[in-house]
Amino acid sequence: MESLQTLTEAVCAIAREAGLFLKTERKKFSQEAVERKHAHDYVSYVDRESERRIVAALKTLLPQAGFLTEEGSAAYHNESCCWVVDPLDGTTNYIHDNAPYCVSIALRDKRSLLIGVVYDPCRDECFYGWKGGGAYVDGQKLHVSSTDTPEDALLVVELPYNSDRYAATGEHLIRELYGKVAAVRMPGSAALAICYVAAGRFDGWLEAFIGQWDFSAAALLVEEAGGRVTDFTGSGHYLNGHHIVATNGRLHDWLLRLGNEVPPQL
Ligand code: IPD
Ligand code: CA
Repeated sequence: MESLQTLTEAVCAIAREAGLFLKTERKKFSQEAVERKHAHDYVSYVDRESERRIVAALKTLLPQAGFLTEEGSAAYHNESCCWVVDPLDGTTNYIHDNAPYCVSIALRDKRSLLIGVVYDPCRDECFYGWKGGGAYVDGQKLHVSSTDTPEDALLVVELPYNSDRYAATGEHLIRELYGKVAAVRMPGSAALAICYVAAGRFDGWLEAFIGQWDFSAAALLVEEAGGRVTDFTGSGHYLNGHHIVATNGRLHDWLLRLGNEVPPQL
């Protein structure tokens, strides 16, 4: 395998190209193109075509790797490493012509994340990093924030599609946080929100019932930027799960505890 840094640079180019496709296509996007995957979970030809292009390019880059992709156009057959791809994270924002949305690509082996790349075409920002090599946005090294008091924290609490099993947790979190922290946001792209934790723009983020394609790339960046990522039990073995907490580290135990006071029905 080429060096992780060299591979990361090639993945950034692929993510940028896909992101520019999203942005260009948005200008001519029609609501008629929207399809419903599940209640409140949408998709269009844009997600699928973005995925087709990314998968084709990644296959050339590393033919021996398998795939885990949101739109399911390529598969994993127990290869030793695997690309984890969200061709359009923030689809609901996208179909409503809102920002942010992004492309998210991770490379992992069976035990750990190796590469993470998230490209935001709305701000033309590329977040990237590789295992042991740090995390960056367009050449600038990322560091998580140093906020250590909840009252100064800018947090993200997204409400996942799985409302039956998360509504009570979500309501509890909003009730507990509203008026007690600096502010709570729901940006609509898990991948970018987690990148913002890596960049120190948010202090913490949590959400259950999300896809591995939503968090894998950005989770590596948080760890490389000095933050902490766990599942809802506090375990660092979160890679194959769907319930994730990512913070600057200092606020981790507090946010984890809050998320478990009225636990999601995992
Ligand atoms: C969604 C976004 C959203 C999060 C959802 C995800 P998608 O991904 O990341 O922020 O709240 O749980 O499914 O469907 O836009 O790729
Ligand atoms: Ca998606």
